[in-house]
Amino acid sequence: MEKTFYIETFGCQMNAHDSEKVVGTLLHEGFAQVEAPDQANYIFFNTCSIRDKAEQKVFNRLQHFKNSGKGKILAVIGCVAQQEGEKIFDRAPHVSLVAGSASYTKLPEMLVQLEAGNRRVTGLSLETDQTFDTPFTSRDNPYRGWITIIEGCDKSCAYCVVPFTRGPERSRTSASVIEEASRLAGLGYSEIQLLGQNVNSYRDPSPAGWDFATLLDQVGRVAGIRRVRFTTSHPRDFVKPIVDAIEANPNLCNHVHLPVQSGSSRVLEAMQRLYTREEYMDRIEWMRGARRPIAITSDIIVGFPGETEKDLEATLDLLDEVKYDSIFSFKYSRRPNTAALALGDQISEEEKTRRIVIVQERQRAIQMRQNAELLGEVEELLVEGRYESTGQWVGRTTRNRNLTFSSSASDLLGTYVNVRVTRSGPNALMGELVN
Ligand code: SAH
Ligand code: SF4
Ligand code: F3S
Repeated sequence: MEKTFYIETFGCQMNAHDSEKVVGTLLHEGFAQVEAPDQANYIFFNTCSIRDKAEQKVFNRLQHFKNSGKGKILAVIGCVAQQEGEKIFDRAPHVSLVAGSASYTKLPEMLVQLEAGNRRVTGLSLETDQTFDTPFTSRDNPYRGWITIIEGCDKSCAYCVVPFTRGPERSRTSASVIEEASRLAGLGYSEIQLLGQNVNSYRDPSPAGWDFATLLDQVGRVAGIRRVRFTTSHPRDFVKPIVDAIEANPNLCNHVHLPVQSGSSRVLEAMQRLYTREEYMDRIEWMRGARRPIAITSDIIVGFPGETEKDLEATLDLLDEVKYDSIFSFKYSRRPNTAALALGDQISEEEKTRRIVIVQERQRAIQMRQNAELLGEVEELLVEGRYESTGQWVGRTTRNRNLTFSSSASDLLGTYVNVRVTRSGPNALMGELVN
């Protein structure tokens, strides 16, 4: 029988990149990828469990394949797989493989078991010091290449499932990261994005012993690489040398995603974030003091247990103070295994909705003003797409802004162009090509 697979991916960039590695592994094992589930005999779901909604989405998808998946092999991988483990077989008996990201190095062995007819294959151990690296990665984006530098998370934020779904931190050797960046440059990639749940705690396991700032700088020096980004940074481990590296090396993009979660030190303590608002603001000051303007983005959680009106005010006040380029905001969601489950004083869903709307409105006004200040500025873009309907091009600035512009050129994809900003809104910038 021909081995064909279809894969659906949920969740963060780490998951999206894991899927690229899983796809590459499957292709290397002789599978062919298909675009629709009905053409496949293996269906993979790479899942996310960060909030309850994300997890429910997965079970809804599985339910959908209860009948239409007959005769096919269903595989649940990723964070829901790790979190729910063998319970998935009870809830969805038509599933044959349940494996978390810490087991992907064993994927070929697990596939052999599936082919041998085993209908209850698992990969659920978190006891590993390995990372999932493969030369077979099948990348979706032809210009920007993701490279995982650290897997897992050693923090224990009170609301978060990630330490349970991805296990303890494991860093890759600096040599293997540099080697992958060079290989990507050779394939024509000019932008690298370094990935990890907390890239700042990267520790080179080899004798070279590089820290994150050194690795970042060195990736920015790989011949052919013009842009380097990284995500995510934890404020506790975000040190001044990272800002110094960005200042000194123009290939390092002027953008830092530094999730604050709350503007209230009291809530930050309850969240076990390991920093106060003041300590967070010190890091913002380092960036504001840099000679190159650095875009700063963040994540905000509203409605954490015990969050008062005063705490919410503190978050709004922090938004005004930092003036983020953009934020992601989330309603607190109760997650299995997490410390916050034990906290009293849960906030109602209705109240969380009220709070998130206030946060988003405040941020929208900030972005409206910030973006208007960019009018007339010339930005360098890496052109990444084209809108079929309008024929306009879209590219990204070093500060991680999307900019739309018109040009009669036949193909600009993957090239760098200069564009002057001519129109701005809260979420969008438009401009014209500068020759
Ligand atoms: N490792 C990253 C983020 C991982 S999850 C970091 O430390 O910043 C991405 C974002 O999801 C988090 O920053 C947080 O804002 C949000 N998030 C995580 N758990 C959540 C939960 N239980 N409810 C709501 N939002 C959550
Ligand atoms: Fe979750 Fe905190 Fe780890 Fe980020 S640092 S993945 S929020 S536990
Ligand atoms: Fe989701 Fe796992 Fe990423 S829970 S956000 S896919 S680390």
